Amino acid sequence: MDQEVDNGRRNFLKGLVLLSTLAVAGMGLNTALRVLSPPPLGISSFPTLKLVDSNGNPIKASSIPLNSPSALQFDYPLQNTPNFLLNIGDSNGNPIKIESVEVLIPATGEKYLSLPGVGPNGSIVAYNAICQHLGCIFPELRFYPAGVESVNIQGQQLTNVIHCLCHGSTYDPVKGASVVTGPTTHPLPQVKLLWDSSTDELYASLMIGPVIYGRQSDLVGEEPISGDTTTVVNVGNPFIS
Ligand code: FES
Repeated sequence: MDQEVDNGRRNFLKGLVLLSTLAVAGMGLNTALRVLSPPPLGISSFPTLKLVDSNGNPIKASSIPLNSPSALQFDYPLQNTPNFLLNIGDSNGNPIKIESVEVLIPATGEKYLSLPGVGPNGSIVAYNAICQHLGCIFPELRFYPAGVESVNIQGQQLTNVIHCLCHGSTYDPVKGASVVTGPTTHPLPQVKLLWDSSTDELYASLMIGPVIYGRQSDLVGEEPISGDTTTVVNVGNPFIS
């Protein structure tokens, strides 16, 4: 009998020691993970970055081709965050002055005012180039310029739209990249461009609208862009030779 009691006590004490060890190990693991994990990538506020070409020379607004069949993109506000740079015209090759309009976020019912176009004709705008549905990027997500390329959407040939071939979402870049067709329930975020009319140079200075797809915040999730410029790249158009 005494032997049984001793065994019981011994097992109880063993259990206590095991629990304490596990608790200490758990705390140690958490602390170790905190120390080992790097702080989240990102920045604390939107930078103002000059748009430059691959040689570091400023992009001149007057030199951005109207209705270009090739896509111009630049990262903002972080690395690996592509945005379209568009100079939008009509099918006759005349620039369209892009006005500020009310943009609806279908998912929430919220509305916000888009930013007007900049440049000598007010026809230059920039939008995030990551589809708000499930994150497809160029070339699946691309701009169809008037007079150059059209896309069949619900039986209509449309131009001057940004359309995603992944699942069919369509955005209107003349109206703040608002939603034309789903399945997306969010417009594309817009980059605020500043145009210095004395130098014809362009700057990216802010983002408005929904948060960039796949990010908790526009300012978190990728490495910062170093310096005070961001490079505009011509990513071409694999569908037009
Ligand atoms: S990812 Fe663009 S429509 Fe689905």
